[in-house]
Amino acid sequence: MKDGAAAGGRRLRFVVVACLLGLASFYVGTHVVTTRPAPPRHPLTGRQIAGIATDTNWLERVTREQEEAPEQALQLIGVQPGMVVADVGAGTGYMTTRLARLVGPTGKVYANDLQPGMLRIIQDKAGTEHLSNVQIVQGTETDTRLPDNAIDLALLVDVYHELWHPQNMLQSIRRSLKPNGELVLVEYRKEDPSIPIADTHRMSVADVRTEVEAEGFTFDRLVPGLPRQHIIVFRKRTGG
Ligand SMILES: C[S@@+](CC[C@H](N)C(=O)[O-])C[C@H]1O[C@@H](n2cnc3c(N)ncnc32)[C@H](O)[C@@H]1O
Repeated sequence: MKDGAAAGGRRLRFVVVACLLGLASFYVGTHVVTTRPAPPRHPLTGRQIAGIATDTNWLERVTREQEEAPEQALQLIGVQPGMVVADVGAGTGYMTTRLARLVGPTGKVYANDLQPGMLRIIQDKAGTEHLSNVQIVQGTETDTRLPDNAIDLALLVDVYHELWHPQNMLQSIRRSLKPNGELVLVEYRKEDPSIPIADTHRMSVADVRTEVEAEGFTFDRLVPGLPRQHIIVFRKRTGG
């Protein structure tokens, strides 16, 4: 009889504790957990900004050589020995290592990203490939944290479309550029619907010009020659 009463008591305690835990997790689920907000639209063009890329395998896919011709891209952009280049939104360093070899020991590459995991991959690659001219810089969503007036060329490959605060980032990049420094955006061509990529991951020249020129840059040139991407070059506008 006594054993039965004790077992009943334990069952009751179990049910009470389970109910309390259930209520607590319901409360946490509905009140405490915050989800990352959806990407915003650009205030000038209304362009839907993309989510931030986290898939390192995608960035290192074998087909990328053929789709993006990275060596040719850097040649078309005109990367030279001795230049100081910022690889903004460097990801796994797909372009960083190529840039580092091109600018050579008299040049320098700042590899910037906001994801620490990406920057660790670049640090490891630079170590393995003995590239002592690569400097890692962790930025934020609004600030590259690059040094002021130090950069000859700020390169964003497949990055601009996913900046959640493009106006702040452009102002930050502008501060880091030397007076005649260049900003180069490489972006999948929105004007060509036959290029297989999601709509938010491509840019038209018109939208890029509207958004970038408004932040203190002058359009310099559009460089043809890549299979799928635009190369759009701007200069830092000075004195105004
Ligand atoms: C599609 S990946 C391209 C990576 C690299 N440029 C390449 O060509 O492989 C875009 C990268 O931009 C980075 N990114 C997005 N917003 C950023 C910001 N505000 N500042 C720095 N990096 C950013 C992401 O973390 C991601 O690594």
